[in-house]
Amino acid sequence: MSLQNGSNGTQHRVPAEIDYDDPRTTRFEKVRAAAREDGVEIVHYEPQFPPKGSRVERRLTRTVSSLFLLSGLFATAFVVIYIVWPWQWDPGDTWERFYTPLLGLTLGLSLLCIAIGVLSWGKKLLPREVSIQDRHDGGAPESDRRAVGTTLGYMVDELGVKRRPLLGLSLAAGLAPVAALAAAPLIGGLIKNPHANNQMFVTGWAPIKGADGSTRLVRLTREDGTPIRPADVSTGGQMTVFPGIPGGASNAHADSPTLLIHLRPDDAQVARANNLKGTGKDDLDRSGYMYGDFIAYSKICTHAGCPASLYEQQTNRLLCPCHQSQFLITDNAKPIFGPASRALPQLPLGVDEEGYLVAKSDFQATVGPDFWERP
Ligand code: FES
Repeated sequence: MSLQNGSNGTQHRVPAEIDYDDPRTTRFEKVRAAAREDGVEIVHYEPQFPPKGSRVERRLTRTVSSLFLLSGLFATAFVVIYIVWPWQWDPGDTWERFYTPLLGLTLGLSLLCIAIGVLSWGKKLLPREVSIQDRHDGGAPESDRRAVGTTLGYMVDELGVKRRPLLGLSLAAGLAPVAALAAAPLIGGLIKNPHANNQMFVTGWAPIKGADGSTRLVRLTREDGTPIRPADVSTGGQMTVFPGIPGGASNAHADSPTLLIHLRPDDAQVARANNLKGTGKDDLDRSGYMYGDFIAYSKICTHAGCPASLYEQQTNRLLCPCHQSQFLITDNAKPIFGPASRALPQLPLGVDEEGYLVAKSDFQATVGPDFWERP
């Protein structure tokens, strides 16, 4: 063994020849020699704490194993909650409000247990070692690669998995469900269809189907649920209306608030004519959407979903306060200013046999901002 100058001016020992096939050479000697060949000097090596086979070691092994198993337990709980817990929003005091917190809690605890387990393993059960390495250029020769193979084998043994099978088993049992965490959102999308019942395309204005096959049109109501007659809105006036169904004015139907406007006769004539022409961007048939001089548009801005409800009566514009989009009420609520690129959906209006305003159907265009699946 001799000392030689390294490329960075430091000195390292040049290894004595070592026979890797000599059975008298211990594996640690091979590892140390291999490290030197690679310019790595193991300057400090302290055997494991606690002593092998001691009660302390067994206790630490059990602790680390328990952490891995706990991690697997929390990961399994995450997957089970992801699949079976009620997640759709319902009015009232429902279990769904715990869905997201429980997912976060179980995922966080699972990862925390793994982290504490791995840290405890490394700090309490592995040997303490300090190595110094000179940097070098170029690829590794064959002997180096063999040395790396030996080193890796040595490291696996040092991890103590063979000698402590409980650790290996608990690690595998703990990590398998953690792997399932990553797969859960992908597989979950196949189990649960987020578009079941066309939630994105149906609002509270959809006609209600009775058990006997009959269909009931939904009334336009105030926030307190009282229905509206045409005479309740004066010419030039407007009113925010909600579907006359249970919870129609609640967040359960946050996509349904609509602005009912009583246009002046001249403006109504223009609006009716433009309804027949359409927006030029879709092929919706808007004929018959107005009732008399009444017209109704979704209040949910097609840009980013703010309430577009600042009604400018003189210019017949509807303004969205968020980013100043403006929609022309007499021309199919087409955007004429600002970032919105799509017209506000129009609600087809009618009157029922008792003289109350009703929605003749749901919106025919999707409400609110664009989303990927929007046709
Ligand atoms: Fe209405 Fe942006 S949300 S303009």
